[in-house]
Amino acid sequence: NNKTFTMIKPDAVANGHIGAILDQIIKAGFKINAMKYIALTEQTAGKFYEVHKERPFYGELVGFMSSGPIVAAILEKDNAVEDFRKLIGATDPAKAEAGTIRQLFAESIGANAIHGSDSSENAKIEGDFFFSALEKF
Ligand code: GTP
Ligand code: MG
Repeated sequence: NNKTFTMIKPDAVANGHIGAILDQIIKAGFKINAMKYIALTEQTAGKFYEVHKERPFYGELVGFMSSGPIVAAILEKDNAVEDFRKLIGATDPAKAEAGTIRQLFAESIGANAIHGSDSSENAKIEGDFFFSALEKF
C-alpha cells in the first residue's frame, strides 16, 4: 500500500487552487508518480464512477466531473491510501477537519475539490484508467 490515485476536481481547478493543493500534497510527503491535466467527458466520467451508478447523485456527479478540466495523478508514500484520505478530509467539506484539503478548498459535498482512492485495489484500477505504462514511473 504505497500508492494512491487522486483528481483535483473541476471546482478546485476553476477556483485557482491547483498550486496550493499540490503544495499541500507534496509537503505531506507524497511523491508524484504520474500526472496529467485532462478533461473528462460525460462518457469517461460515467465509466470512472460506474461503481456509484445506483446512487441517487450519480447523474449530478458525472455532470460535475465533466464540467471542466481536472488534474489526475498517481501519488506515492508509505500508507498512501489511508494517509491521503486523512489529508483530504471528509466527503462533505462542512464535516471535514480543519486544515484538510476539502475543509480549505471544497464548496459542497458535490463540488468537493479532490478525490482520493478508498483502497489500494481501487488506486491501481483508477490509476490504470488514466495512465499508460509509458506515463508512469
Ligand atoms: P471520492 O474521493 O471523490 O471518491 O470521495 P469519497 O470517497 O469521500 O466519497 P464517495 O466515494 O462516497 O462519493 C464519491 C463522490 O460522489 C464524492 O466525492 C462526491 O463528489 C460525490 N457525492 C457523494 N455524496 C454526494 C451527494 O450526496 N450529492 C452529490 N451531489 N454528490 C455526492
Ligand atoms: Mg470514494
